[in-house]
Amino acid sequence: MCLTIPAQVFEKHKNFVLVKTDSEIRKINTGFLTDLKKGDWILHTVGTAVRIIDSEEAKEIIELLGKTKYIPQKLSTQFKEILKKIQLGGDLTKEEITYLLRVKGDEKKTLFSEANIVRQANLHDFFCIHGIIEFSNYCKNDCSYCGLRAENRNLTRYRMSVSEIVQTAVDAVKKKGYKLLVLQSGEDYFYTDEMLVEIIKKIKEKCRVFIFMSVGERGYPAYKKIKKAGASGVLFRFETSNQKLFKRLHSKGKNFKNRLEHLKFFRELGYFIATGSLIGLPGQTIDDLAEDILLTKKWANMVSTGPFLSTVDTSLADVIDNEKTKKWKIEMNLKMIAILRLMVETTRIPVVTALETLAGVNIRKKALQSGANSLMFNLTPAKYRPHYKIYGHKFYQKENIWEKYGLFKDKESYQMLEERMAKELNV
Ligand code: 5AD
Repeated sequence: MCLTIPAQVFEKHKNFVLVKTDSEIRKINTGFLTDLKKGDWILHTVGTAVRIIDSEEAKEIIELLGKTKYIPQKLSTQFKEILKKIQLGGDLTKEEITYLLRVKGDEKKTLFSEANIVRQANLHDFFCIHGIIEFSNYCKNDCSYCGLRAENRNLTRYRMSVSEIVQTAVDAVKKKGYKLLVLQSGEDYFYTDEMLVEIIKKIKEKCRVFIFMSVGERGYPAYKKIKKAGASGVLFRFETSNQKLFKRLHSKGKNFKNRLEHLKFFRELGYFIATGSLIGLPGQTIDDLAEDILLTKKWANMVSTGPFLSTVDTSLADVIDNEKTKKWKIEMNLKMIAILRLMVETTRIPVVTALETLAGVNIRKKALQSGANSLMFNLTPAKYRPHYKIYGHKFYQKENIWEKYGLFKDKESYQMLEERMAKELNV
């Protein structure tokens, strides 16, 4: 489902109204809302009014999404040159990205506000809310940062049945208006390819929804079948572009080459790819993050980048964040969002749960104002949620307020997503 920033009508004409936003006056077609009058608050998108809301509701949404405008003061020549290069459509070098990752003060504020302007210019004030269903926490891998790792004997394991998964997905679509769902699990071969196919087919038979799978390195034949069954995308992070670090973190099973192979054939198969990296891994440098940005740009139709959070019962359990490291990770995550928004204007960038867990609910607004344009809400049934401990103390809050204002809960939303995805995939 989708959400836009409200605007107030200040002039009514025959087929359109004029609304005032912070920075401009916009002409909005009245669409079906023929009895709009001066003073009404409306939600609008792509130039057409969609819904009248009362002023209290408008205030609440503005509060959620917010708006800021920042007038830069002191900018270095190098910073200005980088911005100019972006505006002219040039590709940033690793050095330029590293410069942006290090900016402070005025330049930092400018980076965020520029990214916000690019988001607004390209995607309007239009945010999508996607859902994630974590259907099994069994995993054959032993990634040293992840609480689901096979060696962790202290985790209560669960698996949702095929019918439970289908029902949860169908409820999310029919009752709440979700149009894009991620089905995620550890790498769990209890679910055969055929079972995954069955799950996708059953969901698609019952409702119109885009399904993204996040089920690990299952290889080409599996992903071919899954695509054929109706999955549209994959959520599959490369985790880090630093191969030495990758090796250190993944002692058995996973290797970087296989990760990239997967990304390659995902593209070949026509998947919409959500990928990215972890931020703040032990031993990771700013240079690594710059490489992560370049690799994300290369592969992602949707960005999925979030902070590493230390987790009990993993080999990185001792890497505890203090206020300073926490702040650093939050800032780096926002900067990576902003830089990616500047580099790939129309890409989908969700605010990930790990960032919300680290920074609290207010980060949503901040991240959206730094170039992010979507949110990912957890739809895992309550009884299982506490056990999906990729990391601890996962954040869930206020989803209902956002869901309440979700716009286009019906087929328009699906069509709009379809158009946007097709544009992104050039089909
Ligand atoms: N902190 C943050 N993210 C994590 N993931 C796994 N463990 C952690 C952690 N401790 C992320 C990985 C994986 C995704 C499903 O969850 O990036 O790709």
